[in-house]
Amino acid sequence: NGAATKGGKTRDIVKTMEESDKNMVIFYGSQTGTAEDYASRLAKEGSARFGLKTMIANLEEFDYENLDTLPEDKVAVFVMATYGEGEPTDNSVDFYEFIMGDDVNFTEGDRLGNLKFIGFGLGNNTYEHFNAVIRRLTATLLKLGAKQIGTIGEGDDGAGTMEEDFLAWKEPMWKALQEEMGLEEREAVYEPVFSITERTDLSAQDDTVYLGEPNKNHLEGASKGPYGASNPFIAPIKSSSEIFTVKDRNCLHMEIDITGTNLSYTTGDHIAVWPTNAGREVDRFLRVLGLEGKKDGVVDVTGIDSTAKVPFPTPTTYDAIARYHLEICAPVSRQFLASLAAFAPTPAAKDELTRLGSDKDYFQETVLSRYLNIAQVLELNAPSEVWSSVPFSLMIEGLNRIQPRYYSISSSSLVQPKLISITCVVESIKVPGASHILKGVASNYLLALKQKQHGDPEPDPHGLTYAITGPRNKYDGIHLPVHTRASNFRLPSDPSKPVIMIGPGTGVAPFRAFVQERAALAEKGEKIGKTLLFFGCRRASEDFLYQEEWKEYAAKLGDSFSLITAFSRDGPEKVYVQHRLKEHAKEVNELLVQGGYFYVCGDAAHMAREVNTSLGNIIAQERGLTETQGEEIVKRLRSSNLYQEDVWS
Ligand code: 2AM
Repeated sequence: NGAATKGGKTRDIVKTMEESDKNMVIFYGSQTGTAEDYASRLAKEGSARFGLKTMIANLEEFDYENLDTLPEDKVAVFVMATYGEGEPTDNSVDFYEFIMGDDVNFTEGDRLGNLKFIGFGLGNNTYEHFNAVIRRLTATLLKLGAKQIGTIGEGDDGAGTMEEDFLAWKEPMWKALQEEMGLEEREAVYEPVFSITERTDLSAQDDTVYLGEPNKNHLEGASKGPYGASNPFIAPIKSSSEIFTVKDRNCLHMEIDITGTNLSYTTGDHIAVWPTNAGREVDRFLRVLGLEGKKDGVVDVTGIDSTAKVPFPTPTTYDAIARYHLEICAPVSRQFLASLAAFAPTPAAKDELTRLGSDKDYFQETVLSRYLNIAQVLELNAPSEVWSSVPFSLMIEGLNRIQPRYYSISSSSLVQPKLISITCVVESIKVPGASHILKGVASNYLLALKQKQHGDPEPDPHGLTYAITGPRNKYDGIHLPVHTRASNFRLPSDPSKPVIMIGPGTGVAPFRAFVQERAALAEKGEKIGKTLLFFGCRRASEDFLYQEEWKEYAAKLGDSFSLITAFSRDGPEKVYVQHRLKEHAKEVNELLVQGGYFYVCGDAAHMAREVNTSLGNIIAQERGLTETQGEEIVKRLRSSNLYQEDVWS
């Protein structure tokens, strides 16, 4: 049927399934990797428990015109994340637009009468359009005549219950699918998706062996553009500095140079940073698995069949896989622990993993609340053993791929188009009830880069050694793999419009960019509207970000700029940005009446919600309306883009 091919690989999903004898395809629309992870877990479980012939499929790698010819003995699963304001993920946009289109047309007609489907959505209920993508997709598939199996699951990241929502949804889903397809459940059998071959003929010094390079160009030392999500630019860090004045916490300001590349940004965008796992965690992981002595051993990783995509380039080493490719520091999932029980070195460890896998509360209390990663759990449960019976392929299949971390850019693209600022607080959390300190993966990596750049005498205060210079020590100076990502967080195109910005902590990052931009426009003689910034931190003397810089901007912006601070720990009572917002109710309301823009950046779960509520109350109070009417107005501001958020949980 003339399906397009790219690099010899077919984009025909029906043909792919027929040729590789699959009867279940799990499509994923994933932005940060969670949906992809769930898809591969479903694939593994379907094959282990029910003998299904499963495959996962990245939605952007296939065409959909012939979805109507998928035979009735096959089933399609859609695991779809909703992103931002009800939007599909980057990799699912084409599929989504195709299927939702008014004149969708398949090879045999305009119906999907043969298609059996299952759905799970990943969303965040702090957003207005909770799980909009899976909801709209389901409605469309049903309208086109497809048959839904089981209920559609909806995971909620806002409530922090994503993982448990997924686990609770999938049992009844499997039941429904068993009935539909007449499947028998069997004692779970581990069926590897990848095979690992140790290559004793190669050494880590051989220049065909990947030691963390993201692709062939990088391996050959000829990194070239276009740069993007699958080809990060190894950017020089032009400068880095500490911007907290306290000693026990760190916040970094870094300037990342993208000169000479296709990368660009607009004020309000994000930069993706590709972190490296800390040496301490890499060592722990390899030690627990009994691979310590082989860490530089070379392996080939290949798919058992043609639908399995190896998530990183090979041949490579165990060390490189753990350091650059797997999310080994993330809190481990309940389901994954359960799947490791069969390979436990002692009966006690087997019982413990089985219990952790089946008892949600026990898991919460012993593992999740302490943010234990995979190696920590295994280490705790068999301290004097190694888990060498665990197939390494299971680690590659069961752990997430390492994900880039997105930071709100804190510079203005008008002022410095090829130099990107980031403002990053270094995460270091004393975990209650645990002996370890939880270290953020990316922020501690950035801290190590900064320390290296400054030749700080104690570059590694926490035993977190990093491979700073990258694979083969190829990059001189201090470098960081990055790409950029567009956002919808935008200043008004007319600078004379007022803006109100709420950014406590590092939530101030994009507002430094906004204020920097408006100050530059003011210098050029443009008329700038009122620029009101609410900033909050613990103490004026400790973590007041950009304290001196605001004065420079104020000098350029004159009366139009006001900085309103909330120091939460300087006085007898907590003072937060939303309290200050209320104190300025009259002015805030007036600015909104004049067509002002309202922006919030920072913590999603508490701060952004409370600011939303406060603004509703302010509007109600100032305009003599009811609370509900106030809330309605806030909703309208949101839908007309006058209320914008850049928040994270
Ligand atoms: P706290 O840590 O003293 O409680 C940046 O993190 C600032 O945001 C800190 O001053 C912090 O105060 C404050 N903060 C914490 N929770 C908040 C909330 N729910 N709303 C607004 N600000 C909050």
